[in-house]
Amino acid sequence: MSALQTAAPDTQLVSEAEAALQMAIERHMLAPRLREAMQYATLGGGKRVRPLLTLRACEAVGGDRADAMPAAIALEMIHCFSLVHDDLPALDNDELRRGRPTTHRAHGEALAILAGDALTSVALEVALGSRRRPADIARELASATTAMIAGQVYDTLGGFPGTPDAAAKLRLIHDNKTGALIRCACRMGALCGGADESRLASLSRYGEAMGLMFQVVDDILDETQSTEHLGKAAGKDRDAGKMTYPGVFGLDESRRHVERMLSEALAALAPLGEAADPLRAMASALATRTR
Ligand code: IPE
Ligand code: IPE
Ligand code: MG
Ligand code: MG
Ligand code: MG
Repeated sequence: MSALQTAAPDTQLVSEAEAALQMAIERHMLAPRLREAMQYATLGGGKRVRPLLTLRACEAVGGDRADAMPAAIALEMIHCFSLVHDDLPALDNDELRRGRPTTHRAHGEALAILAGDALTSVALEVALGSRRRPADIARELASATTAMIAGQVYDTLGGFPGTPDAAAKLRLIHDNKTGALIRCACRMGALCGGADESRLASLSRYGEAMGLMFQVVDDILDETQSTEHLGKAAGKDRDAGKMTYPGVFGLDESRRHVERMLSEALAALAPLGEAADPLRAMASALATRTR
């Protein structure tokens, strides 16, 4: 990027992504009650980290971010579906999300389950509308979604393959339930921007480090922040018997792990030069986030 060309601020990209998300759900043929639950699940706040990563990764390899918008919003739909189902009584049984009642509290359990289902299928249709490599984009999204669901199974029910130790179990949970979608965000952005294999590999490594870092920070915030500040229930992972980084390694070691993941994410971006500066800024901001 030349000195004269400064990247658009994150707030602008978030507004663009939210407008595209809203339009995609509005335009789709949906039963009215289903649409309302899907709108509730997708349009009520959220940091929009994953679509931002997709749009920024596309720009980091010299692409036009408009080409990455279908992939970006499709991924946010999958993320919102994962939150709706994560909050259900059978999983984390939460009543607050993004500062409001969870989807099943607002619309009932049946519609929350069905809205999550429909967000998955609509997301795949949207991904298939990508201008560049639509089949590859849809495949990335589908396989990351399957990995996220596997992570939710390990998190909720255990049943790990083999006999991993606690650290290996944590990696299996976190790399899948959260890491897979974040890595996918970066890979889809790279593909939409026309990245070659080497840049795709760099952005995959960045995404892997960012994904683990993101969930370790989420675990730390559960122990250190209030429900009011987070807009979701705090202090419940330990009571619920969840495997978390602070639970297994303690808060100080978890914080050191965040620093290590941040360094790995930044190192992965080295071959991309200045064009990756917005991704560097996102990495630092997400390492130090408080919500
Ligand atoms: C919460 O994700 C669930 C995790 C994977 C840790 P976010 O922290 O990105 O939630 P929103 O989208 O900003 O609400
Ligand atoms: C969420 O992990 C992972 C997915 C939603 C796939 P958590 O259960 O820790 O997320 P929060 O803390 O409820 O947002
Ligand atoms: Mg959970
Ligand atoms: Mg949860
Ligand atoms: Mg959590």
